Parts: sequence; structure tokens; C-alpha cells
Amino acid sequence: MSIKPIEYRDGILRMIDQRLLPTEETWLEYTDYREVAEAIRSMVVRGAPAIGVAAAFGAAFGARDIEAENFEAFYPEFEKVCALLAATRPTAVNLFWALDRMKHFARANAAYPPADLKTGLLFEAMAIADEDDRLNRTMGRHGQALIPEQARVLTHCNAGALATGGYGTALGVIRAAVAAGKKVAVYADETRPFLQGSRLTAWELQKDKIPVTLICDNMAGYLMSKGEIDCVIVGADRIAANGDVANKIGTYTVAVLAKEHGLPFYVAAPLSTIDLSIPDGSHIPIEERDRREVTHSGERQLAPEGIEVRNPAFDVTPARLVTAIITEKGVVQGDYQSGLQALFGKGR
Ligand code: MRU
Repeated sequence: MSIKPIEYRDGILRMIDQRLLPTEETWLEYTDYREVAEAIRSMVVRGAPAIGVAAAFGAAFGARDIEAENFEAFYPEFEKVCALLAATRPTAVNLFWALDRMKHFARANAAYPPADLKTGLLFEAMAIADEDDRLNRTMGRHGQALIPEQARVLTHCNAGALATGGYGTALGVIRAAVAAGKKVAVYADETRPFLQGSRLTAWELQKDKIPVTLICDNMAGYLMSKGEIDCVIVGADRIAANGDVANKIGTYTVAVLAKEHGLPFYVAAPLSTIDLSIPDGSHIPIEERDRREVTHSGERQLAPEGIEVRNPAFDVTPARLVTAIITEKGVVQGDYQSGLQALFGKGR
């Protein structure tokens, strides 16, 4: 049983504060959509599918607080709630996907009285959360077929249970490989500057007793050159129509290294991460975060006062460096343009 970072019960959303892991397991409670938005912005909750799930509950909470007699009065207010939630983080498309799904649900049920619509929106948020957990398990089964019987797998950032409604994408594939009896050992990049690898991936794999070794980001090339890594698997925040992949900063570097060493580089992501509306990765907005993430570690200053800093939180790996994209509808290889498009017409 892997952790579920987001739980809803009796009108309250509970989220584990991922900023405090691995040393403190603190659960925060939410009932107000503005606080949910702040939790996304400040990374209490993070990871593309997880912020989609949190935003869906935020939208349902915002809807609940709207006082309106009919749909015409309700919907413009609901759009404002969704806009506030959408303005939290720009790169992961799952956030916008989830909010679009909530707005679509509202429009499709416009004939119902607002009170019923509000209940329906809460159920829709619960459905988004449950589906994400379930589809990650299906994705894991598809992806684990690519993992050798004995494998040393490098991952970057955290694309685990903590980043999703449960089970994980990249780590879901690893969990499924372990469940299939394969002998998998994971190398976790620490993932500077926010340290999702050392704080989160190392924590959740250790908790699930999956062998994991922590390395600094700049050690991956050395280990590959020594033949100590068999493949790479990462998650994604947004995948363009041509297969270009935005993921945590440093992913591109790992992909180039994998290419140099002839290692497969896999991306695991649900369809809600695929953005067919953009032709390639150059259209993906890349979030720039606070300079303090780079200059400080907690309270400790690591750089001279006043130094120029860049802190792009994501990069784009060109499709040509990606060996396969693993989704809940199957694995796409080769021609991503038509392969990704085809997934959207496919049944389970
Ligand atoms: O800034 P974060 O922690 O939200 O970034 C997360 C990542 O880049 C993950 O790899 C990605 O969202 C995939 S999570 C299944």
C-alpha cells in the first residue's frame, strides 16, 4: 500500500505537507478554495497529477460557497474560482485539465439547481482522484513489461504516489515491476534545488521497502559510464503533440546522458498530462521559482549576497531522446505525433 497524499472526508481535504518530508509527517486540512490554491503555489502538494486532484477539490469547495439562484448567476462565479486555482503554477497541464473537466461538468449539468450541481462537482473531484490512482496501476502494468528481470533504474524528481492520486507514474511502473517479481534497484537523483528526489522519492520507496540509493544530480553520468544503470524512468508535467516532454529541471540533462550511454529513457504519464493543443515543447510555459530555493538550504545561505540567480523549475526533453512514453492506454514508441493522437480514441 503506497501513500495517498490527498484524502477527502466529510467536507475536509487533508494533504500531507510535502515541504516537511522526510523528517515530519504533518497533514494539513482544507475547506477553502483560496487555501487550496495557496497549498498548490507553495508546494504543500506538488507533482502534476496531484495538483490536478487538489485543484478539482478546490473548485468544488469554491462552488459550494457560491450563493446563486440559478446557473446563469452561478457559472461566472465558478469560472472566477477556477481562474484563481489555475493561476497557481503554469507548467503542469494536469492542473488546467482538471479545472476544464470541472467546468465542463458544470456546463453539462446546467439544468440542475445550483445545490445539486455543487454536490455533483464534489463527486466529480472525487472521481478525478480515484481515477488517477486506478489509471496509475494500469500504467504500471503496461510499463513494467519494459523493465528487465534485474534492473538498476535511475529516476529524477518524484513521480511517485506523492505526486499523484496514489501509486505514482514513474514509480508506479517500478512498483508494478517489483510486484511482478522483478529485482529492481532504484537510483534517486536528489533533484536540486527543491530536493524532491532526496526528500520524497527516497522517503516513499524506503517506506515501501523498494531498494533505493540516493545520488546527487551530478553523479548520474559517472554511474552510467561505469555500467551501473540499466534504464531511466521519469514522469512528466506536460507532453506536447510531437512527444517533447516537460519535466523537472535536470531531466533533459539525464536524457542526454542516457543517449550517450545507449540507455533507454522512459517517460510515464497519464493522458491528462498530454497536451495535443501545442505542437511541440517550445510552447510549454516554464515556471521560474524564487531565487531563494537556489541560494539557501532552509535558513542556511549557500551563495554570496546579491548573486545573480536563475531558477527554471522545468526543462523540455526533445522527443528524439525519449525511448517510449508509457500511459494508461498503452506504450507509445517511434512516431509520437500519430501515436499520442491515437491514444485519445482508444478504449481501455
Ligand atoms: O515542481 P514539482 O515537484 O511539482 O515537479 C514535479 C515533477 O516534475 C514530476 O516529475 C512530474 O510532475 C510528474 S509527477 C507524476
